[in-house]
Amino acid sequence: MDRVFIKNIKEHVDKEVTLKGWVYSFRRSGKIGFLTFRDGFGLLQCIVAKNDIGEENFESVKKLTQESSVVIEGKVVENERALGGYEVIASKVEIIHISKDYPITPKEHGTDFLMNHRHLWLRSKKQHAILKVRHQIIKAIRDFFDSNDFTLVDSPIFTPNAAEGTSTLFGTDYFGKTAYLAQTGQLYGEASAMAFGRHYNFGPCFRAEKSKTRRHLTEFWMVEPEIAYCDIEEDIQWAEDLLAYIVSHVLSTCKEHLVTLERDIEILKKIKAPFPRLSYSDCIDILKKDGFDIEWGDDFGSPEETHIAEKFDSPVIVHRFPSKIKAFYMKRDPENDKVVLGMDILAPEGYGEIVGGSERETDIDILLDRIKEEGLNKEDYDWFLDLRRFGSVPHSGFGMGLERVVAWLCGLTHIRETTPFARTMGRLNP
Ligand code: 4AD
Ligand code: MG
Repeated sequence: MDRVFIKNIKEHVDKEVTLKGWVYSFRRSGKIGFLTFRDGFGLLQCIVAKNDIGEENFESVKKLTQESSVVIEGKVVENERALGGYEVIASKVEIIHISKDYPITPKEHGTDFLMNHRHLWLRSKKQHAILKVRHQIIKAIRDFFDSNDFTLVDSPIFTPNAAEGTSTLFGTDYFGKTAYLAQTGQLYGEASAMAFGRHYNFGPCFRAEKSKTRRHLTEFWMVEPEIAYCDIEEDIQWAEDLLAYIVSHVLSTCKEHLVTLERDIEILKKIKAPFPRLSYSDCIDILKKDGFDIEWGDDFGSPEETHIAEKFDSPVIVHRFPSKIKAFYMKRDPENDKVVLGMDILAPEGYGEIVGGSERETDIDILLDRIKEEGLNKEDYDWFLDLRRFGSVPHSGFGMGLERVVAWLCGLTHIRETTPFARTMGRLNP
């Protein structure tokens, strides 16, 4: 008898199959049991009747509890009233392990309780769907860059540098020196772009975010392309193409998961390139006109981002921010040296900044000034400045935060469910 997965069940109608998995729920009524079975691919109803499996087996099945592990043999039949349209009429239920007092029951639990049991919560329908969507987003990202001749080059996690400001660094003792966990792979990405032309890195980044928000993790994944001979306009184009590709991939591969998550798919279908583009100054005008207490030069908080983004169906590209509020490596706009050739992309529906990027400063003297202004240690950046000494070219890149994109596409109110084991200020466990 073939072992089959629930995702392929419809290919086995009227055939005998073996299923290996767990009890999602079990209800018995007299001589018949209704077992919702899960195997990591989906859920399936199994009919466990005394007449079909025999008296002895039926007695043992009475012990089954939520999340007990079982191997079921039986026949697949169509049943439009069953979950997914198919069910299995069991002929044998082999009990592998009885799970006692599974803590996550069908009743409502508080988020803290669920996060404490994250290692088990991953089995629940909604959490399972989120991580399936996350997987497809990762696949879309990799496919997009791989098919556009970007080479994946990994950047280190232990670094001497603070590329995104000194206030969110995680330091650790490194044989008597201090190493920082990477806030970004970008500086190394710039080295790779000079070696490979088109490069991306994709891995975990770390920021000691001391605020508790719906959007910040201390450990998150970022994908960062870096492109030689690329200006800010081309950079924006790559980011837009990437996002449009991800949305269309998710819509074509994740329908059932989005339905499980009760995500409004029509909203996602409205996302269409080209995305609206606004300068930072345009945004300030809009915000002031709409009654926000904000001055040119102030950074946006989440209410400002949400207000701008809510005016559009698609993500909004905001460019040319004041240099004072952006990182040291961003290139000054030759037409206005108060602003940098940087861009952020704000997701619709208040999901906030999903992409940050820029054209990179190539002038070594400006970079040295900015490194000094930020209070950074010049020696730690000497290797980076070599990229401006040996064959320096105009180049650009951006970083897209994976978990923010997962939150947005899945329609989640909080980022903690977008990653298997969230790390936040208040959580290092499990
Ligand atoms: O805007 P950020 O800080 O940009 C950089 O790190 C650049 N070095 C990227 C580059 O140009 N190569 O971060 C980029 C993105 C943000 O837009 C956001 O989506 C995500 O990373 N991000 C976070 N996601 C979750 N939790 C956090 N604490 C995040 N911080 C940034
Ligand atoms: Mg940013």
